[in-house]
Amino acid sequence: MKKVLIATEKPFASVAIDGIREILEQAGYETVLLEKYTDTADFLKAVADVDALIVRSDRVTKNIVEAANHLKIVVRAGAGYDNLDLAACTQKNIVAMNTPGQNSNAVAELAVGMMIYMARNGMTAGTGSELKGKKLGIHAYGNVGKLVAALGKGFGMEVYAFDPFVPEDQLKKDGVTPVADVKELYRQCQYVSLHIPANDATKKSVGYQLLTSMPKGGTLINTARKEVIDEEGLLKALQERNDLKYASDIAPDAFSKIQESVGMRIFATPKKIGAETAEANINAGLAAARQIVDFFEKGDKRFQVNQ
Ligand code: 3PG
Repeated sequence: MKKVLIATEKPFASVAIDGIREILEQAGYETVLLEKYTDTADFLKAVADVDALIVRSDRVTKNIVEAANHLKIVVRAGAGYDNLDLAACTQKNIVAMNTPGQNSNAVAELAVGMMIYMARNGMTAGTGSELKGKKLGIHAYGNVGKLVAALGKGFGMEVYAFDPFVPEDQLKKDGVTPVADVKELYRQCQYVSLHIPANDATKKSVGYQLLTSMPKGGTLINTARKEVIDEEGLLKALQERNDLKYASDIAPDAFSKIQESVGMRIFATPKKIGAETAEANINAGLAAARQIVDFFEKGDKRFQVNQ
């Protein structure tokens, strides 16, 4: 009987676990649950004899991969797979997958919520501003970026996007104005919503230059990864321009230092909550379970992200 480990430091909603179990049980597989673990040793032990693994942002390091004696497939129930050591997986012939698009709506709604929160001074007294009529820049037009664009349009925003991987026609079809240069996106838009993945090319790629090129009241919303921000540049920009704001789903490493200096112009969630909705947990968790069954039963590798 195949064994599937769900290792989630930040657990799925219980309704999602029920759904995952049902899919795996129907296929004749056993589900093993490791939730809220605080010691990697527990993960190392649990992964030793399983055939498949489902994680969220949990780090699947070389050590985890090496401790997994029977592992054939790991599915990151979510979009970003920067937490998986792909090279280590490939070396052990382990298929690594994500579940693209499954939790995008939750993240997109949070991005818009953060825009409103910042526009209304953190929901405190005082005169705020409206999103209507403002320019919204989408930095990377993937599954989340596309939804944020649509929501922004619903608020009456003018939407622009920079994404070298998406044809201009596609953006235009969605009523979004393509911008060929990332600097131009920041120069034009009062709100920029970040949706780039964290990789060697993007880490620390958004900092002082881009932020200080934003128009008055420029607000950067980051529901992507904290690693894509150059934190020194962020602090310098926020200190130099007292109209700039930054909201992030998960605090930058230097959060306390920045907040001490700029107060409420920075906001961060204490833990990544973008995909923390029952709906997103169900969508991503059940998709992960189905992908595992399809992989074992039909050899389906559609969502593979390693070579
Ligand atoms: C993702 O990449 O899908 C999101 O960042 C969600 O991450 P989480 O599963 O840890 O909430």
